[in-house]
Amino acid sequence: MTTETREQRAVLDPHSHSAPERVRVRHVELDLTLDMARRELTGSAALTLERRERAAPLVLDVQGLRVEGVRGADGQARRHTLGDEDPVLGAPLAIELAPQDEVVRVDYRTTERSDALQWLAPEQTADGQAPFLFTQGQSIFTRSWIPLQDSPGVRVTYGARVRVVGGDDLTVVMSAEQLGRDADGAWRFRMTHPIPPYLIALACGRLAFRPISERCGIWAEPGVVERARAEFEDTESMVQAAEKLFGAYRWGRYDVLVLPPAFPFGGMENPCLTFATPTVLAGDKSLVNLVAHELAHSWSGNLVTNATWRDFWLNEGFTVYFEQRIMEAVYGVERARTEWRLAIDDLRRELTELEPWQQVLHIELGARHPDDGFSGVPYTKGAAFLKRIEELFGRARLDRCLTTWFDRHAFQSVTTETFLEFLQRELLAQDPAQARQLDLDLWLRAPGLPADAPSATSALLERVDRLVQAWPAARDVAALDTAGFSTQQWLHLLEGLAPALDARALAALDQRFDLTDSANCEIVGVWLRLAIAHGYQPADARLEDFLLGIGRRKYLEPLYKELVKTEAGRARAVALYARARPRYHALTRDTIDEIVGKPGGG
Ligand code: BES
Ligand code: ZN
Repeated sequence: MTTETREQRAVLDPHSHSAPERVRVRHVELDLTLDMARRELTGSAALTLERRERAAPLVLDVQGLRVEGVRGADGQARRHTLGDEDPVLGAPLAIELAPQDEVVRVDYRTTERSDALQWLAPEQTADGQAPFLFTQGQSIFTRSWIPLQDSPGVRVTYGARVRVVGGDDLTVVMSAEQLGRDADGAWRFRMTHPIPPYLIALACGRLAFRPISERCGIWAEPGVVERARAEFEDTESMVQAAEKLFGAYRWGRYDVLVLPPAFPFGGMENPCLTFATPTVLAGDKSLVNLVAHELAHSWSGNLVTNATWRDFWLNEGFTVYFEQRIMEAVYGVERARTEWRLAIDDLRRELTELEPWQQVLHIELGARHPDDGFSGVPYTKGAAFLKRIEELFGRARLDRCLTTWFDRHAFQSVTTETFLEFLQRELLAQDPAQARQLDLDLWLRAPGLPADAPSATSALLERVDRLVQAWPAARDVAALDTAGFSTQQWLHLLEGLAPALDARALAALDQRFDLTDSANCEIVGVWLRLAIAHGYQPADARLEDFLLGIGRRKYLEPLYKELVKTEAGRARAVALYARARPRYHALTRDTIDEIVGKPGGG
């Protein structure tokens, strides 16, 4: 506690207007009503304060919210001013506090500009029967549905009561402990651990639940839930593997909510309840590393959190490293190596397109939106850094060090500097000879991937490499022996062949392997990119369905980028995007707007 206080006084988060060193929010009590038909959330947030400077105002972050009133502890109105809206940060809401105000209540409603919220029409759900709502808080979107100090350094506990108008058949879930329903039908929740605001999350829709173990289960639409349960049936084994590696799981339940395909990410580590895209339901568990990843965040990210978005690699790099260790423990070392090799290959391709500042682990964001720094760098380069440390100091010592890291900083928000001091003290100082081989400056402050970054050999992928090497000589699809290929081998094959393909080869591949109709979104994503690049028209209809039906940014971004490379492709992209854009989350829209331009907007 004392170390947290000391650190957080010093840490300034440039992505929040709030001044928590003066008045700090400690608890948020939500009383909300969801109107599914009007697509509006109304209600109040009662904020419990820690007043460090008695005379200072409370400053909150708001974006796209209509503030309807602020009341103090006595129920009387308090003067408040909404400052100028910054396009990235939103506006500061400054509230004048009376001497006795330990709690203030903000009454508000969301608007169409509340970017965290995505309201789906029934036809955008798997079952097509009811509307759906979900929130996405990371990185700085929580301020668009809750007025609070939206900085990952300002941890809060929370409670919530949520009523739903026009949805007797709908279920509400949140990133917290579920307390059941009130007499009047409101859903109740409680999070007793202090969490960063970006982890407050809510979803509402027609949902069913299937248990996996005592503490794990799956939420999904009724038509999806059984498939999802089967895909994720190893979740309890993953939790046990994770606990064995880095200490007890501290959040009570671990459930996964499978969302409609409009969800903009693969997964989001909302505490107690990971949000996941249905695009990982491949039918063969080949994409379940997503669950290992989001589960790992229960330690790296949710227990120990990046204090600012500059320190994002502390969340994601640690998590990818941890994800790999869970995959190895549950599915074996070859699976983990194969996935690592693909990640490194992806990163190398991506690095050729990133600006130098985006390639740095301890990134300099300046006034930019945290999302502008999003790439494979914090993920794969971050994990490579930990793998390099493992290589130098051995697993046993690194594991001990990481377990201590999570324990000592549990429920705290930390900076890169704090980690480096810790590493120096707990590991490097013990073995100076090995420490000299670790160039911290190069890893943390330089662009590119250091030459000593650990790669991986994978027998499964070497088999693919041989096929790729043999391809240019014969260009013979019939000679491609893909019997028993895993998803990862297919991805490696397609990326390997990519530079040497043309429309004819694509037609032959499609004829033999039915790639256009593959049910595996990961494979289809790569295949459609190749189809665009080579003008392979039989895939056009599938491309259209994919762009209209799926909201996962990771798949959409490369496809739109490929389309706009030619004039005809750009015209198609513009036409398709005009139809698809209203179906995407604001986050996805921002990314695709940059590539295609806003429909009707120059
Ligand atoms: N926390 C991230 C998602 C995120 C990052 C949302 C930054 C908003 C801003 C999540 O844990 C994640 O990394 N998801 C990946 C999963 C993959 C690495 C297995 C994704 O969505 O693709
Ligand atoms: Zn992650």
